[in-house]
Amino acid sequence: MDPFNIDTFRSAAPYIYAHQGRVFVVTISRETAASGKLSELVQDLALLHTLGIKLILVYAAANELAAVNQCVDAKRMQSLQAEIAAQRTQLESLFSAGLINTPMAGMKLRVVSGNFIHAKPAGIIAGVDSQHYGEVRRVDSYAIQAQLAANNIVLLSPTAYSPSGEYFYIDALNVAAAVAASVPADKLIVMMDEKTLQASRGQRLKHLNLDQAQTLLRRRKSISSMLRRYITLAIETCLKQVPRVHLLSTTVRGALLHELFSHAGCGTLISADDYDDIRPASIEDVGGIMSLIKPLQESGSLVGRSEEQIERDIHSYDVIERDGFVIACAALQQIDDSEYAEVACFAVHPDFQKEGHGSRLITHIEQKAAALGLQHVMVLTTKALHWFHEQGYQTQSIKNLPIAKQKTYNSQRNSRILIKSIV
Ligand SMILES: CC(C)(COP(=O)(O)OP(=O)(O)OC[C@H]1O[C@@H](n2cnc3c(N)ncnc32)[C@H](O)[C@@H]1OP(=O)(O)O)[C@@H](O)C(=O)NCCC(=O)NCCS
Repeated sequence: MDPFNIDTFRSAAPYIYAHQGRVFVVTISRETAASGKLSELVQDLALLHTLGIKLILVYAAANELAAVNQCVDAKRMQSLQAEIAAQRTQLESLFSAGLINTPMAGMKLRVVSGNFIHAKPAGIIAGVDSQHYGEVRRVDSYAIQAQLAANNIVLLSPTAYSPSGEYFYIDALNVAAAVAASVPADKLIVMMDEKTLQASRGQRLKHLNLDQAQTLLRRRKSISSMLRRYITLAIETCLKQVPRVHLLSTTVRGALLHELFSHAGCGTLISADDYDDIRPASIEDVGGIMSLIKPLQESGSLVGRSEEQIERDIHSYDVIERDGFVIACAALQQIDDSEYAEVACFAVHPDFQKEGHGSRLITHIEQKAAALGLQHVMVLTTKALHWFHEQGYQTQSIKNLPIAKQKTYNSQRNSRILIKSIV
């Protein structure tokens, strides 16, 4: 048996707190249901529900792309209806009874479905009457909210009805996006059967703002049509005021929990904001800064600073925060009345390094120094010499430092002195 990992649990706690009461729309692909992974996914969803997350689940009944721009005739609609009924039964039974042999045994989960989506026909597409293939006309978000408020999980199928009583098949992704935008949800989570989105160098693309997502679509011709569809849908959904869309791969076990409750995550987040904006630190950040820099102080990468010192100088710190965590920090202090500013306590959390946070933060700090009318930024470092060289800093001797700094220079530490002119 795996030993209980107390650090994992502790680091998940702020996420548990942050997600409480939030509305997440989660899609369930047809492959998930077909591949036998559904019962594990239902357990994870049940866990989210017990942690106070309000869930709207949208399940697919057909291969998404195949249905797009296609006619759904009466015969096809009949087979889709049969498949939708089977999916719904399977999901409802898993939520009702399937938890007996799991740690969630005894937990009562109420799953409700209903005519929450109103449809309209997709009409004639490229000269072809799409018949029962429909689009979302309206979402009864009040009814959905009422169910969520009653602590029910809302389960939506890819079908809907028109006011005249006709029924339509609507692509599950379109249902999920429309519901997320109209409720509105805090997150749309798309469980894809494709592998996690990767950068060209093979690393996972953790976060894209809308510009980056659009650039990716434009530049990367090799992206599969399905991934292209997911990214496009994510961009459109973010533009409709859903703050965050997560693209998760069902090939990653426990992807939902990993993405929502760990620093590193395992999918790709697409968001309208920059997510990790740099902001001035406040007194509430002292604890976060301390836990970020403590290991670096212990390893000697950073000079030791007490909590009291940070508290006293907090006005000179900037931080990058993600979901309540300080993931990077830096302090800028003018050296006496000189034209020099010192960057101190410069660190990026190991889980978030190599994502450009360091470069963004140092640029921000230099701009801040320039705005204060200072001419040079200096830093003392024992470990990041080459990194600062790449940011345009040059190694200098101690005599190039302002007198006040020469006096306090710790020769035992033997830090390299790096200076950049910012005029
Ligand atoms: C140095 C530091 C701030 C860089 O942060 P970051 O967010 O990873 O930086 P970026 O994403 O902008 O840059 C990453 C690039 O710099 C490289 N890099 C990171 N640390 C480096 C170092 N010490 N020396 C040389 N290159 C380094 C990475 O390999 C990466 O390059 P690659 O993409 O070609 O592989 C971070 O590694 C850190 O916090 N280090 C410990 C604290 C420290 O030494 N602070 C400086 C003293 S004040």
